[in-house]
Amino acid sequence: MTKTILITGANGEIGHGLIKKLAEDSQNKIVALDINSLDPDLSKLTLQFVKADILDNRLLDELFKKYHFDTIFHLAALLSTSSERDPVKAHHVNTDGAINILAIAEKFARANTKKVKFIFPSSIAIYGLPNLEVKKRVGKIKEEQYNLPATMYGCNKLYIELLGNYYARYYEKHKKSEQYLDFRAIRFPGIISADTLPTGGTSDFGPEMLHAAAQNKPYACFVRADSKIPFMVMPDAVKVLLKLAKAPSSSVKHHVYNVGSFSISAGEIAKYAHEINKIKITYKPHQKRQAIVDSWPEDVDDSEARADWGWKPSCDKTKAFEEYLIPAIKARYG
Ligand SMILES: NC(=O)c1ccc[n+]([C@@H]2O[C@H](COP(=O)([O-])OP(=O)(O)OC[C@H]3O[C@@H](n4cnc5c(N)ncnc54)[C@H](O)[C@@H]3O)[C@@H](O)[C@H]2O)c1
Repeated sequence: MTKTILITGANGEIGHGLIKKLAEDSQNKIVALDINSLDPDLSKLTLQFVKADILDNRLLDELFKKYHFDTIFHLAALLSTSSERDPVKAHHVNTDGAINILAIAEKFARANTKKVKFIFPSSIAIYGLPNLEVKKRVGKIKEEQYNLPATMYGCNKLYIELLGNYYARYYEKHKKSEQYLDFRAIRFPGIISADTLPTGGTSDFGPEMLHAAAQNKPYACFVRADSKIPFMVMPDAVKVLLKLAKAPSSSVKHHVYNVGSFSISAGEIAKYAHEINKIKITYKPHQKRQAIVDSWPEDVDDSEARADWGWKPSCDKTKAFEEYLIPAIKARYG
């Protein structure tokens, strides 16, 4: 059956992987929105690209009227480091942007007696561990633990999860048949892609180190070597978004899920980078970015996602580096 899909923040790292994967099924009609131009390679795969700000309510309303979206992937955001540089702007783009599109989607679902799926990439930034001793002790964190973000980005993501919960649950109670907003969120770890480079995130030290190695450039890492957080490779990030979007409502028992893959320190990533090229890697911790990474959990407990809708990453740590990242990044730079 044809599905009409809206992707906001479509020109970002996840947007690149997601559009390519969704376009493999000709039944998917993709409308892409971003404040920046869309890569020409991606434009070819979409029904329409709209260059617009997520804060433009009138335009969003028009898009819903024109396309009657079945599913929304709301990716547009400012990431953690960018959000710390301009917290007020981050609040507007992340939080106001999210409520705009949530409210329009919910109104549309009710008016048209149809269920609209709203898939939201949240983040491990919603967790805030008070110190390294607690971080070590907690290990794999559960969804309900330490919901005390240290950053504006984390605050925004946590509040958007609550907004999604509000729009889904409040209106679900009043639903007639299938007319409601079906909000589903994933708390992503840091994501590493072989094809694109991140900008503005605080887990960027992982991908930056690998891409620097492939270009034979020295790398000054902005966190200590022992800094450990969970990561996932881009193909798994796309896979989990699609898996959650496809899961039957009966198996999605919560609105928000952790998803894990592997946990790794900056020092361990450096060893993998040296398999690409023996570049010089130094550690020059940036006070604020280090504090952010120290407040994020070492790993996530994703047993709910595994039990409820069958989440299972394709890659463990070794496979992620040896079979995907190292060969693909080497190939990218020739
Ligand atoms: N990449 C990660 O490691 C990671 C981890 C956890 C969660 N996420 C979340 O996944 C989503 C996508 O992440 P990404 O890595 O692709 O980020 P990205 O920065 O590569 O992409 C974000 C996109 O949003 C667009 N955008 C920014 N402001 C906008 C606005 N006002 N209106 C419309 N578009 C706007 C940008 O132009 C960009 O193309 C984000 O919500 C992010 O918070 C990413």
